[in-house]
Amino acid sequence: MKPIRICLVGAGRAAKVHAASLTRHLPAGRLVAIVDPHAETLQATADEFGVEQRFATLEEALDHVELDAVVITTPTFTHAALAVTAARAGKHIFLEKPMALTLEECDAIARVAAENHVFLQLGFMRRFDPDFSAAFERIQAGEIGQPLMVKSLTHGPGLPPPWARDLKTSNGNLAEVNSHDWDCIRWLMGSNPRRVYAEVANLKGSARGVTTEHFYDHALVTVRFENGTLGNISSICPCDYGYDARVEIIGEKGIMQIGELKGQAVVVCTDRDHGLVTPIFRTWPQRFAWGYIREMEHFLHAIQTDTPPKVGAEDGRWAVASVLAATRSFLEERPVLLSEVMA
Ligand SMILES: NC(=O)c1ccc[n+]([C@@H]2O[C@H](COP(=O)([O-])OP(=O)(O)OC[C@H]3O[C@@H](n4cnc5c(N)ncnc54)[C@H](O)[C@@H]3O)[C@@H](O)[C@H]2O)c1
Repeated sequence: MKPIRICLVGAGRAAKVHAASLTRHLPAGRLVAIVDPHAETLQATADEFGVEQRFATLEEALDHVELDAVVITTPTFTHAALAVTAARAGKHIFLEKPMALTLEECDAIARVAAENHVFLQLGFMRRFDPDFSAAFERIQAGEIGQPLMVKSLTHGPGLPPPWARDLKTSNGNLAEVNSHDWDCIRWLMGSNPRRVYAEVANLKGSARGVTTEHFYDHALVTVRFENGTLGNISSICPCDYGYDARVEIIGEKGIMQIGELKGQAVVVCTDRDHGLVTPIFRTWPQRFAWGYIREMEHFLHAIQTDTPPKVGAEDGRWAVASVLAATRSFLEERPVLLSEVMA
């Protein structure tokens, strides 16, 4: 079968993860071009992965290279325009989360993709992580009975890039860091969120020179689902102890925990007063290494077999709607129904 010819749009942090999957792990895909208006970033990433065709805009790449698909790894505020351009050119789209800034943008992306008969897969790699996907299958098989309550956390190290600190360009950490939690709790609980209440705090920003309006680095959200069950999401970024992503689900018959703090199966003891030492995950590419490879494998397989990817526009739209409701909740200091932002 002919390899799927891919253009990576955006050459930053997420781009490198997908470039590594495509060039080192997945012969079904061929990374043939990279686009980034920032010349130094473009050169560094293209050099690292040996990609010759380099462009400052997606339009130039579409004009000069034969492509089957694009992988969009740019800041959130650029997603809608780039995805619509790619869809109009008839290219399948792998789109990093969050799908877009607004529901209007989500709808435009979904509509143009459907009109042009191209697939759209969202970058929710947790659905392809071996632990998360096994947990989903075991919930479906009824091992813990009907899920009643979910607690999901993502705590990430390092200040997010400037565009990701600003509500206007990213919708803030609840989108940038916790889109995965929003998607996972809805997927694992088998119900859409109905109402959310968010508290946020800026506990580290000023000490680290962040002056962006409405910046927050800690958040807790309480969620009520349409089926009456409950959940919460915990968000910290920057988190100084490492990368931490875990979920606990309590069902009618039992409890399920997904993920752990321990980043290696190596335990060291050199001092009985300090006890056992085992490293935590340092970064998201390390924690979800298999999820990133398997989600891209799924995208290539979807194109090759002409089968729609299993995570798409509707999932992306629900995550964006949840973020918009939670953002309105902390700005207006009240619980917000999803129907208020989806109307
Ligand atoms: N799935 C995940 O776990 C995960 C992890 C990190 C980031 N992301 C997502 O990936 C996206 C990018 O995040 P990042 O951390 O890599 O950001 P980044 O700032 O490191 O990189 C973004 C790059 O996009 C480039 N860019 C901006 N506008 C562009 C345009 N119009 N065309 C082409 N390139 C353009 C920038 O110059 C920059 O090099 C975001 O949507 C983010 O939420 C997902």
